[in-house]
Amino acid sequence: MANIKDILLSMDYGPAPEANDHVTAWLAKHCAGPADAMGHYIGGAFVASSGGGRFEVRNPAHDTVLAHVAEGTAADIDRAVAAARQAFANWSQLPGHQRARHLYALARLIQKRERFFAVLESMDNGKPIRESRDIDVPLVARHFYHHAGWAELVETEFPEAVPVGVCGQIIPWNFPLLMLAWKIAPALAAGNTVVLKPAEFTPLTALAFAEVCQEAGLPPGVVNIVNGDGATGAALVAHPGVDKLAFTGSTEVGRLIRESTAGTGKKLTLELGGKSPFVVFEDADLDAAVEGVVDAIWFNQGQVCCAGSRLLVQEGAAPRFYSKLRARMETLRVGDPLDKCTDIGAIVAPVQLQRIRELVVKGQAEGATLWQPQSPLPTTGCFFPPSLFTDVEPASTIAEVEIFGPVAVAMTFRTPGEAVELANNTRYGLAASIWSENINRALEVAAKVKAGVVWINCTNLFDAASGFGGYRESGFGREGGREGLAEYLVHRSEKGAAVVADTPQFAASALPATAAPANEARGIDRTAKLFIGGKQVRPDGGNSYAVHGAEGGLIGQAGLGNRKDVRNAVEAAAKATSWGAATAHNRAQVLYYVAENLAARTSEFAERLRAMTGCDAAAAAREVELAVRRTFWYAAWADKFDGGVHATRTSNVTLAMYEPWGVMGLACPDAAPLLGFVSLVMPAIAMGNRVVAVPSPPHALAATDLYTVFGSSDVPDGVVNIVTGERDVLLKTLAEHDEVAAVWYFGSRAGSAMVEKASAGNLKSTWVNHGRPRAWSEADGQGRAFLQRATQVKNIWIPYGE
Ligand code: NAI
Repeated sequence: MANIKDILLSMDYGPAPEANDHVTAWLAKHCAGPADAMGHYIGGAFVASSGGGRFEVRNPAHDTVLAHVAEGTAADIDRAVAAARQAFANWSQLPGHQRARHLYALARLIQKRERFFAVLESMDNGKPIRESRDIDVPLVARHFYHHAGWAELVETEFPEAVPVGVCGQIIPWNFPLLMLAWKIAPALAAGNTVVLKPAEFTPLTALAFAEVCQEAGLPPGVVNIVNGDGATGAALVAHPGVDKLAFTGSTEVGRLIRESTAGTGKKLTLELGGKSPFVVFEDADLDAAVEGVVDAIWFNQGQVCCAGSRLLVQEGAAPRFYSKLRARMETLRVGDPLDKCTDIGAIVAPVQLQRIRELVVKGQAEGATLWQPQSPLPTTGCFFPPSLFTDVEPASTIAEVEIFGPVAVAMTFRTPGEAVELANNTRYGLAASIWSENINRALEVAAKVKAGVVWINCTNLFDAASGFGGYRESGFGREGGREGLAEYLVHRSEKGAAVVADTPQFAASALPATAAPANEARGIDRTAKLFIGGKQVRPDGGNSYAVHGAEGGLIGQAGLGNRKDVRNAVEAAAKATSWGAATAHNRAQVLYYVAENLAARTSEFAERLRAMTGCDAAAAAREVELAVRRTFWYAAWADKFDGGVHATRTSNVTLAMYEPWGVMGLACPDAAPLLGFVSLVMPAIAMGNRVVAVPSPPHALAATDLYTVFGSSDVPDGVVNIVTGERDVLLKTLAEHDEVAAVWYFGSRAGSAMVEKASAGNLKSTWVNHGRPRAWSEADGQGRAFLQRATQVKNIWIPYGE
């Protein structure tokens, strides 16, 4: 044992172990015999696996077995979904206040057992007790309190909404109890029931939470927990009784889930991986930024989806910053998670450790310079030292791939523009951290970075009042805050709406362009072209298709667009970036101008509608009138769809800003050919998006007549692009296109499934109608929901004070 003199010389910490006897006693109680396994929690009781299988749960820090847990089968999932369905009937009908009391009780009980949960979490996951005690578990309680509040308010704040139903929730191992809280609290507050599958490495705190549910008197079946691995998760995803899926985990599995749920009508949110930039400007407080890196990439051993894993350091500050960082790394203590002096605990499992090692070897092979401190690692268990790679090429594997370990990769930049370019040089978009004492610069970069959460001069801050979730391949949907709650609700009209059988889809038969028959009524060839980049262009294939009137007569032709045309249109839309940067006032003015020019041609548009659809003159005039009004309505909203300032922490402003997706693909409905088109295009462009719209194929001329309206209304080139042709053929290309960030589809059921499936490539956000009709001329045809779907929320955290 070291004597006092030694201690004074080294100034080393002594061990400060957290007692865990209460947790070991709990484990012994639940796994008393060698054949015992902790069961699933279904219908309010702990039950054995129907298949009799069980699996080991290990402590990664000591490589010891903590418990055995029942292995979930498809039959177990079936039982759990049935229990959740049965409970839904009553739970969803409880007054919000009653649900609030239940959530409040859960929050209170968790708070009373904070120490127990923190120790169990650290033993199961390997994370330092300081983190589970000071961050994870307090945030868990906070989530239940916050959502007890939402349960109270949901009826008045979302009067048109109802709960989705039975929610399947699949969570990862990096924040086991916190991810459970992020999923279960909003689901229950909104009136749903859940079947949750914890990660196979870390099921224990979920089972302890199940005990809390029992103790709190939560009605049986409201929360069900089934243990198991990916196969159990896949059974939950595939279960027809599940109405909504919420998943946090790898992008690969997120993509599989997107594909397998395509066309099922299940609501879906995905919170996936990241490779988040941590940007340090020369004028940053470098010492604070070094502490920021510690919290960004060594928090939870770097096993954090929003870890600041890509350090981007301004060239002039890089040598000084790296040397300060290395000095700080020397002081990081890697060791027993239950020691209160430990900074970095154990990696969750050998397979993850192996993955980290392989990527680090790859980084070295690719020429990057690895630096690790000298401090010793424990000799047993899954440990990896804090690591820093410099001399990293932006295109190298370690700069692109999520390492999910305590490994930072550093690159330098010269100008703020270069910093933004490097920051966005990733397929992900979960978070970013920006360090500069110049708040103007930091905010400008925050606005330009493509990420769902941006921390200015801080990092890895979370709160139940602020939504969390990603852009791009980091997934879609938010957890936390108002928008997180909305993911667990549906509009009354969409709940349980009958799924319609598909009617045969319109097939545009190509006519050779040269054989284009003249418009007999006028004697002049009026073959509508496509509208791309502000110009009327011939379709790439040179073909057109016949547009017939209600009585079957030929009334004109429209261009038969193909994949090349769609790609050209996306390119034109991608270039029109100034639209998103224009002021909302400016966009509103353009929309008013469109409305004005459309109104001036009411009789012409009405006549066209009458000829195409056979409706009477009054109905046609009314559709044009509604299209004008709707354009006004979205012009009015352009500068009023505000974000907010969340009440997160003291000394912190957390701004929620709505941002446009960028390029959107729109498939417009057949019903109300003009109004339907306007109902999709106007909210999208009012929010700053550029669109590639595919009009109703049989009634395409209602949209092609708009070319000249857009052309004469100051709509910048490339903001609205219109490609006519077969809806599903064109939409497939749009849904697969990596430059397109969101797709709205109003067509057939089969087409909806196709769009959802094809969108899995870059995990774009989709809104499809599953073939269900929509009353475009009524309240359903316009609303805030359209604006919400035309935007994504970016939360920017700005601390203040010295
Ligand atoms: P994973 O995505 O396989 O596991 C996450 C959860 O999904 C677990 O509960 C797992 O059982 C479940 N799951 C696995 N396959 C499934 C399927 N086909 N259908 C339904 N559920 C399924 O992640 P894994 O393998 O544990 O870690 C691999 C990598 O994923 C990590 O190295 C890291 O890069 C990333 N990851 C990202 C997380 C995040 O928070 N974004 C969390 C965990 C992992």
